[in-house]
Amino acid sequence: MYVSRLLLESLRSPRPRSCKQGIAASPQVSLRYFIHTFGCQMNAHDSERMAEVLRTHGATQASTLEDADLIVFNTCSVREKAEQKLRSEVGKLLPLKRARPDLVIAIAGCVAQQEGERLLKSIRHVDLVIGPDNLAELPALVVAHQAGAPPAVRTVFDLDNPEFLQAAPEPGTVPASVLVTTMKGCDERCSFCIVPTTRGPERYRPSSAIVDEIAQWVAAGALEVTLLGQTVDSYRDPCLAPPSSDDPDETQFPTLLRLIASKVPGLARLRYTSPHPRHATESLARTHGDLDVLAHHVHLPVQSGSDRVLRRMIRRYTRQEYIERTTRLRRFRPGLTLSTDIIVGFAGETDQDFAETLSLIAEIGFTSLFAFKYSPRPGTPALRLGDDVPEAVKSERLARLFELSEAQQRAHLQSLVGTTQTVLIEGPSKSGNMVQGRTQRNEIVHIGEARHLAHLAHGLVEVRIERANKHSLVAYSVANSETKPHRFLPLLQERQS
Ligand code: 5AD
Repeated sequence: MYVSRLLLESLRSPRPRSCKQGIAASPQVSLRYFIHTFGCQMNAHDSERMAEVLRTHGATQASTLEDADLIVFNTCSVREKAEQKLRSEVGKLLPLKRARPDLVIAIAGCVAQQEGERLLKSIRHVDLVIGPDNLAELPALVVAHQAGAPPAVRTVFDLDNPEFLQAAPEPGTVPASVLVTTMKGCDERCSFCIVPTTRGPERYRPSSAIVDEIAQWVAAGALEVTLLGQTVDSYRDPCLAPPSSDDPDETQFPTLLRLIASKVPGLARLRYTSPHPRHATESLARTHGDLDVLAHHVHLPVQSGSDRVLRRMIRRYTRQEYIERTTRLRRFRPGLTLSTDIIVGFAGETDQDFAETLSLIAEIGFTSLFAFKYSPRPGTPALRLGDDVPEAVKSERLARLFELSEAQQRAHLQSLVGTTQTVLIEGPSKSGNMVQGRTQRNEIVHIGEARHLAHLAHGLVEVRIERANKHSLVAYSVANSETKPHRFLPLLQERQS
């Protein structure tokens, strides 16, 4: 195991070690933009940075798609369905483009990177195709296009001088919970996954820039930060010496977490997503035990509970190793909740393999999970394994899996009724007179009588859980508490005093 890991390490692409930051200057644009985001949190984060770049260059946000002069689709290609959805959404824009030929339509993100020039050929009303590493070039490309340049494709990875668009928090508009990127790309070679193709090799952001951005968010009012990376726990600081070579299992992710905790004491909660189980080291588990700021929850994608399938997926851990790593996390942080990602119907998955996935879900006691039917992706190693699990079997397995995970989630939420929980309020609930937030362990809580909480747009509150819904908890404000008065802890006030 040790030798093979070293060998794999040596086969990895050399790690770029640039500490450089900054955005190239580009011209002013005077237009209204509309960004439609598909897919993961990384895409949501990219869309926000793209919007900031556009605003910096003079653009303003359009309230609807029809009002926009520039429409950007920030795309996802992790499964075929997401790609199909994009094509259908862009297709719907054809009448608008015919009516307003000066409308600029751009496709950004993973499908752009994957398809490049082919997108321009297959969807004739698209003007710009722009990969995840070229987002800062969007204003210049738009200006050139408006000046008569032909449709353009920019899908070049910034391998030598990786650029991380720095967020520009505006006090008063900052949400309670924000995303901060720590790295981009992926050096894993999971056989099902297209991300190494669409996002390129791993490149890391200097820890000083990460800490700086978090401090800015917190100063502007954010309470919670989620660190973002494709394999967030493989982080290495490009400005530091690499970790000791006699400890190939070690990364500098725990060091980053400790640095953030010590340099930004006003931060209320720190989360990260998504770690790879391979890098969930002892040092990371210790960090969970030591840092109060770290949420008591980890989303740790396992993908399958069968060793045979894990091998075919090239996940580089066994079922037993996964169990040991999660047990260790919980040893250092008792009560830590775990969620995960599962793929059902991967090439060659038998009934027995799937039964092992179900038994792992029960054994770990995941409190929530995301599950997907296997979707073969272009250029991935798993293509040569075929796609032999019939669609009906995939659907049936997915349904059985959700049945189990929902039962586990229900039982978990029910066990919290009557307890007191500290909730970080994120904003109003979708329906009714409630606000919504999350506990340390990531349970969603709806808090009633929101008018009592109106002043707490950003805050931590302690509430008594009154009941459990299917996927969330419900609590009421002070007036309804019979057992213990609720203590409101508006962190902003605390920090100011
Ligand atoms: N098919 C189905 N699901 C996939 N995922 C990644 N690639 C595929 C694929 N080809 C899932 C994994 C991953 C999540 C983000 O998407 O579970 O963790």
